[in-house]
Amino acid sequence: MLSPEKNRQLTQVGPGMPMGEVLRRHWHPIAGVDALDRQPVQAVRLMGEDLVLFKTQEGEYGLTERHCAHRSADLSYGYVEARGLRCNYHGWQFDVEGRCIQQPFEEAVNPQARAQCKVRLKAYPVKAKAGLLWAYLGPAPAPELPDWEPFHWENGFVQAVFAEIPCNWLQTQENAIDPVHFEWMHANWSRQLRGQLQTPADYAPTHLKLAFEEFEHGFLYKRVSEDTNEQHPLWTIGRVCLWPNGFFLGDHFEWRVPIDDENTLSVTWAFLRVPREAEPCVQTSIPTWTSPIKDERTGRWITSHVINQDIVAWVGQGRVTDRSRENLGASDRGIALLRRQLFDDIEAVQAGRDPKGVLRDPAQNQRVFLPSDARDFFLNGLPLADYQRHPKWARLLQHFIFHAGQPEWVQATHEAATGVKIQPIDVIDL
Ligand code: FES
Ligand SMILES: [Fe+2]
Repeated sequence: MLSPEKNRQLTQVGPGMPMGEVLRRHWHPIAGVDALDRQPVQAVRLMGEDLVLFKTQEGEYGLTERHCAHRSADLSYGYVEARGLRCNYHGWQFDVEGRCIQQPFEEAVNPQARAQCKVRLKAYPVKAKAGLLWAYLGPAPAPELPDWEPFHWENGFVQAVFAEIPCNWLQTQENAIDPVHFEWMHANWSRQLRGQLQTPADYAPTHLKLAFEEFEHGFLYKRVSEDTNEQHPLWTIGRVCLWPNGFFLGDHFEWRVPIDDENTLSVTWAFLRVPREAEPCVQTSIPTWTSPIKDERTGRWITSHVINQDIVAWVGQGRVTDRSRENLGASDRGIALLRRQLFDDIEAVQAGRDPKGVLRDPAQNQRVFLPSDARDFFLNGLPLADYQRHPKWARLLQHFIFHAGQPEWVQATHEAATGVKIQPIDVIDL
């Protein structure tokens, strides 16, 4: 349980807010590299700030205030040229650092205008990595952009999926340290949706034991269920609640990037090793797409895929969930750890220190290892026949289980990379 005051501290993300300042000490994924190639100017809203993201014709990325420094026209309707973004109202042009580099009429009437111009938009650094564009909205110097080892795994087919979730970031992130929900929200609920939950014997194996451990890049959670033991990778390796707003489940990452206090950008980056017969596989472009979360026919949330199911929980808790009415139990030990660390992070930032998880040393930021029960398989691969027999990996080879609405062009790239066609699913079968 949290008092309304403490809840506000953890959930408000605008500039100057305690948690807003903590989150501004980290890089966040905000768009797909390929999306900017399709549409080089995009409106984005991040942590309560309206911004415009663009890629110049020379290939540089910019992220600036959304409204022109002249008379506030919307720069997301501007257009890119060689060195910058041109406002569509009177043609002022801005480079990726926000400097105004052209004011056509001013320069026509005053040849000194360009040299004298001091006009500047607020601008934030953007970097491309792993098919995603990452932004840093904090004070200089920016820390390292984490170079996670899975970004370097080879012979894989990677895709990234975006979804806008109408609720606060923290309830989405609390899901990253909540092992028991898997049994109910994914396994049992899916069985129920499939009409397969008829007798007590149909229920998924129940959780028996949990453990939570802190480490440099977040927390690990571990579980033993009725069908596993302490030798099982879900206990020996576990899952990573990646600090401060990520989740690494061995084969995919999820990040929960605050758009503002009441909206969150969910970003999923999923790796799939191709069968040996499809090696070598080198992706020239990582496909990124946006997943629907609402069934337009019924007006209800989509419930068929893993992360869509999670989204039902997150939005169901309310725009900013009221934590003063909670009754936390033994299953929520991780939630308490996460909140305590976030309060420590607020204190650290207010005292002028880095919060948990900020990487500063470039030498330490090379192929940073994260625990993964998929790693051996992803590093070594399998022949197709063995792959198709595998109880877990076969599913990922022929379905995209994480988000609904995978476009046909992404399915075609999956098939071209793996040699295996994507099969539709009504409701996941875990
Ligand atoms: S408002 Fe942008 S150039 Fe005038
Ligand atoms: Fe989940």
